[in-house]
Amino acid sequence: MNVMHVEAKQGRADKEVTDLLVLLLSQGETSLKQEAASINALLGGHLQTLLEQREFEGKANETVLVHTQGKTPAKRVLLVGVGAKKELRLDSFRQAIGSAVKRVRQAKVTSFTVAMPSTMPRGATALEIAQAMAEGAILGNYQFNEYRTDNGSKAPDIERLTLYGADRQQLRQITEGVRRGTATGAATTLVRDLCNHPSNVMTPTRVALEAKAIAKEAGVTLTVLEQKNMEELGMGALLGVARGSQEPPKFIILEYKGDKAKKSEQPVVLVGKTITFDTGGISLKPSENMEQMKADMTGGAEVLATVRAAARLKLPMHLIGILPAAENMPGGRAIKPGDILKTLSGKTIEVQNTDAEGRLILSDGLAYATRYKPAALIDIATLTGACVVALGQFAIGMFGNDDRLKEQVRKAGLRAGERVWEMPLWDEYFEQLRSDVADMRNIGGRGGGMITAALFLSKFVGDYPWVHLDIASTDWSDRERAYIPKGPTGIGTRLLIQYLINRTLR
Ligand code: BES
Ligand code: ZN
Ligand code: ZN
Repeated sequence: MNVMHVEAKQGRADKEVTDLLVLLLSQGETSLKQEAASINALLGGHLQTLLEQREFEGKANETVLVHTQGKTPAKRVLLVGVGAKKELRLDSFRQAIGSAVKRVRQAKVTSFTVAMPSTMPRGATALEIAQAMAEGAILGNYQFNEYRTDNGSKAPDIERLTLYGADRQQLRQITEGVRRGTATGAATTLVRDLCNHPSNVMTPTRVALEAKAIAKEAGVTLTVLEQKNMEELGMGALLGVARGSQEPPKFIILEYKGDKAKKSEQPVVLVGKTITFDTGGISLKPSENMEQMKADMTGGAEVLATVRAAARLKLPMHLIGILPAAENMPGGRAIKPGDILKTLSGKTIEVQNTDAEGRLILSDGLAYATRYKPAALIDIATLTGACVVALGQFAIGMFGNDDRLKEQVRKAGLRAGERVWEMPLWDEYFEQLRSDVADMRNIGGRGGGMITAALFLSKFVGDYPWVHLDIASTDWSDRERAYIPKGPTGIGTRLLIQYLINRTLR
């Protein structure tokens, strides 16, 4: 869908003409400050009365709309709560603007303004707040209506949001925050779109076409390996998974080299699981909720969107994105339990469950990634149901072999509001992956399902600094939240981009 235009301007938000002005207030804020104070005065103390009567308390995501009857330059003022002062986080602002956007849309207003909040979380900069607000606006505005022919249930999209900065110094920070927030917001929008398209449309072939369009637009190099190329290379694991489907697999490689990147610089390599639909294969999944498996390509979509964002932000770095793409189907030629596959790395795998296909395609994706001698290697995948059981909906599972990289990823997740939780990658668990006939098997039996999957992957990354992110917990939301829709969430995208930003920009 179209991405809302967010811009930064210098000025006092309360003095600017607009259809709607958003004022962010924290809970228990008794005396109104700055913009809110001056609007309150123009409205004859109306805002103060709302607070005193507790008709607006500033609770997280609370909204109250006030028509100003020509008394202020803004036609309407929307009070939005950010919650208690001591609990303020960057995400409070993302959520507040996400909630605001929905209220703005209900009022059928298509452009609005917002004043920088008078209370900020400790240590947060105007850049960070502006970035969070831009993200909340773009993501809260998200709708997927590509297949609706009845426009009845479609709310009008908001076209524009303007953030006001008081002085030049603040304006500079807000401008950069908006630039970054627009990049991460647009990237997440792309991921949601790609994952919302049904699997009869978004096949591996179509993903490759999308990658081609993006590569052209963003000025990055695209290589697509076809089935025969994979055969020549010996990508037996990816080919094995693809065998059960009529849809040919694609191995998609994107390469971005920023102008200022040093020639000799070793790249960051991102690998994303791109299963366009996971039926489970011969080890067929139960039919309940199976439709959600159209989003089993979330990791790949996130890698694609991240490469586009890096190019749009002109990050001074060398970046490779790899998407092993296939459809997991139980066709007549499908792999069966007991089959043995020879991977690109040379290692052999006994397939004991065809539903554990993500680790199979990733084994080839990761082995290929090591050819670039990565400075950092990150894979991201909707890998295990065990991740959902262990972490619920609010944490991404993280594994890795390098403390520094893990810490950088953890920080990026915190900043992006897409938090990771580290799980152990101890070799003791490897006995669960032993096979009687091959180098290893693709399932680890009962217990520690998220861990054995990660340990399996670790055998294909050599000694390169590597982090694995299991996003099966967060890729799909069963309810609508402030800036997260029901369905594909795109969670993980902002984390990846933030990691790259933190690596390259101040
Ligand atoms: N794509 C699934 C994992 C998944 C489950 C993602 C729920 C999102 C929500 C993956 O390919 C899978 O089926 N994993 C199996 C592995 C098992 C057979 C060892 C699982 O977790 O059940
Ligand atoms: Zn599966
Ligand atoms: Zn899967």
